[in-house]
Amino acid sequence: MSQWTPTSWQDKKVAQQPTYADSASVETAVKALSSLPPLVSSWEIETLKSQLADAANGKRFLLQAGDCAERFADCTPERITEQLKVLLQMSLVLVHSTKRRVIRVGRLAGQYAKPRSSDMETIDGVTLPSYRGDLVNDIEFSEIARMPNPNRLLRGFERSAMTINFVRALIDGGFADLHHPEYWDLGFVEHSPKASEYQAIVASIAESLRFMETLAGEAVGAINRVEFFTSHEGLHLHYEQAQTRQVPRRDGWYDLSCHFPWIGARTTDIDGGHIDFFRGIANPIGVKIGTHDVTIEKLLDVLHPNNEPGRLTLIHRYGAEKIADELPKLIDAVKATGKQVLFISDPMHGNTKKTDRGIKTRNFDSILLELEHSIDIHKSMDSTLGGVHVEVCGQNVTECTGGARGLDEAGLGDAYETLVDPRLNYEQSIELAMLVGQKLG
Ligand code: PEP
Ligand code: CO
Repeated sequence: MSQWTPTSWQDKKVAQQPTYADSASVETAVKALSSLPPLVSSWEIETLKSQLADAANGKRFLLQAGDCAERFADCTPERITEQLKVLLQMSLVLVHSTKRRVIRVGRLAGQYAKPRSSDMETIDGVTLPSYRGDLVNDIEFSEIARMPNPNRLLRGFERSAMTINFVRALIDGGFADLHHPEYWDLGFVEHSPKASEYQAIVASIAESLRFMETLAGEAVGAINRVEFFTSHEGLHLHYEQAQTRQVPRRDGWYDLSCHFPWIGARTTDIDGGHIDFFRGIANPIGVKIGTHDVTIEKLLDVLHPNNEPGRLTLIHRYGAEKIADELPKLIDAVKATGKQVLFISDPMHGNTKKTDRGIKTRNFDSILLELEHSIDIHKSMDSTLGGVHVEVCGQNVTECTGGARGLDEAGLGDAYETLVDPRLNYEQSIELAMLVGQKLG
């Protein structure tokens, strides 16, 4: 294979990149980004890698969750707090029921670039570039807003830095009321036919936390400082390249824009720029696997040549209808290589539907069904489902149907905010964690 450098991807065919009007200003932005301090350290990245290796062996469980697309406008203390809260609460539910330590990874502090099925969008006879995430352009449908703007690379990086800084501060401060389910917003519980089961789960989490506090003689928040890692789709390769460095006293190159970048389902071309970029970085990486054309053996040859523990996570996302046919083939293909990967399930991206009125949605029951099938199929094939990858929002948005409150299609208009894919709202997220936890426990 040819020599790798952080820029060697530029010699390949690269899918899903914006077309900038002026390449000199892209160079200027990349240069500026390259000189800024990184968002994460190689020590944290290596810690995460070893924890992911544990998850592949069934000793830990990965919860990767957050927005489909972060928005610049959401870089506020309220929104960040609520995202962190729903993630940490889901993880506590999972810790409790799986009795495994949970690795918490946010789709956060950099999830600003989006792949699109089409380069252009036409509304009422006007054709403009598609929205590719706030890192590239603005959602507003006007010529100026949709023009890809390289300055946004810097604006996105700065917001990522502010986000991660605030997350670290909240976590260092203990974020104590997380540990008291009596302060959680669990009003939905009583609306479910499973109300008494849910109440029992909450009571039992509260009880075990009180027990730990009594033993420790201080608040659990203070003794049990949680670890938190960041991730985003490594889509915009100039952005990733600019933060990819060698660090003192370690071999290899690290992408320091986040701990755990992943390759999206639309950019897995084995000869393409994304696979080339990812093969050279030392981070643990994820690859989304759907019904797109990928040869697992080749993929693992290139991205996982040394079978390094924790290096590669395959995030399968087939949809509830296809998983029973597709997942066994994936598991067999990986087994045939003799290598180990971490398998996690993304039950969101194969279950997107449009309502009759053209609204993108997902149904809670399909999401749950795909997860349940994933758990069963891995178990029956002597394999391990080591985590879940979900799109969630800490607020009570109305983007996915179903859940305890039985949100229907007519209710989707009430608080539909997402710029790209529909997310589980706060209540649906906690409910999903409870149900998946029970199935895994
Ligand atoms: C995503 O995670 O938001 C996404 C676009 O997923 P996928 O690459 O699996 O389609
Ligand atoms: Co999405």
